[in-house]
Amino acid sequence: MLRRILLAASASGRARKLVTSAPVARGVVARYVAGDTAAEAVAVTGRLRAEGLLVTLDHLGEDTRDARQADAATGEYTALLASLAAAGLTAGGGAEVSVKPTAVGLGLADHGEKTAAENISRICAAARAEGTTVTVDMEDHHHVDATLRIVRALRGEFPDLGCVIQSQLRRSAADAAALATPGSRVRLCKGAYNAPQDVAFTSRAEVDRSYARCLRVLMRGSGYPMLATHDPRLIEIGAAQARLTGRGPDDFEYQMLYGIRPAEQRRLAAEGARMRLYLPYGSDWYGYLVRRLAERPANLAFFARSLVTRR
Ligand code: FDA
Repeated sequence: MLRRILLAASASGRARKLVTSAPVARGVVARYVAGDTAAEAVAVTGRLRAEGLLVTLDHLGEDTRDARQADAATGEYTALLASLAAAGLTAGGGAEVSVKPTAVGLGLADHGEKTAAENISRICAAARAEGTTVTVDMEDHHHVDATLRIVRALRGEFPDLGCVIQSQLRRSAADAAALATPGSRVRLCKGAYNAPQDVAFTSRAEVDRSYARCLRVLMRGSGYPMLATHDPRLIEIGAAQARLTGRGPDDFEYQMLYGIRPAEQRRLAAEGARMRLYLPYGSDWYGYLVRRLAERPANLAFFARSLVTRR
């Protein structure tokens, strides 16, 4: 229930104004976000790469309703890729980028899908020029078909374009099967958006069982699975499936969010696993932060305390 309320708040303009205008302790946002600027994100990426961690960077922002803003978000990504390359961080895909289709135009009233596809294509071209890749994030369930259409269309030219499956959606095992093809990079996550019962599993146990089902499909398939979860049980199932399917440490990767279970991130990397962190940056952190609070009520108490103490 709390999760649904918080996820509704993540899309509410009034709640956004209330929270973003409050004197939020910098430390709360900094726990999950690299900083406001690309320069700060590149610096944090450099530190993470030095620790042997892989990175995917996300420029915060979503639900763009303005074509110029979508164009600016695209320019932010191409400039970011150039800065990462200049710092020697893109080699071998060590640092790549994650893009939300609605940040680059999917939600525009006119030609949204076409605009998003063109903008993602520009980002893919910039990533390829710098020796790295792009993953297209998955957002609200209304956008799944359009997002998968964009990915399928762009994979003709950019076969390494990554996409995301949310195990909370009932359709996901079928999507996983369709996507588990040679060379296909697929991130599997539980899903961070509210979705109704007719399209989504709503109990935690069902979402977890669906995750395990999709995980088995991806690990048995011929693509490159990216297991995005902090859940210890699912990480164990991932390792067991890798053994069963004969996948070595370079044949799949784990992914976690920057700031969540950092000790576990380093433990997996030290064991020789490919471990990639999702690293957001930018000033538009509200929606991202509220989704993180919804995942763990204990975070809410931490956040509320910081509002009161005004550190
Ligand atoms: P769950 O939420 O069940 O958490 C398992 C355990 O992890 C918890 O018990 C706790 O220990 C720890 N934990 C989880 N969240 C925490 C938090 N916020 N603070 C502290 N501890 C926490 N979603 C989406 O819809 N589209 C997308 O494109 C992506 N992309 C994406 C990329 C990457 C790299 C990751 C890791 C996640 C995403 N997500 C996402 C988010 C994802 O759908 C999901 O909401 C979160 O990963 C939380 O789910 P878990 O699998 O970690 O399980």
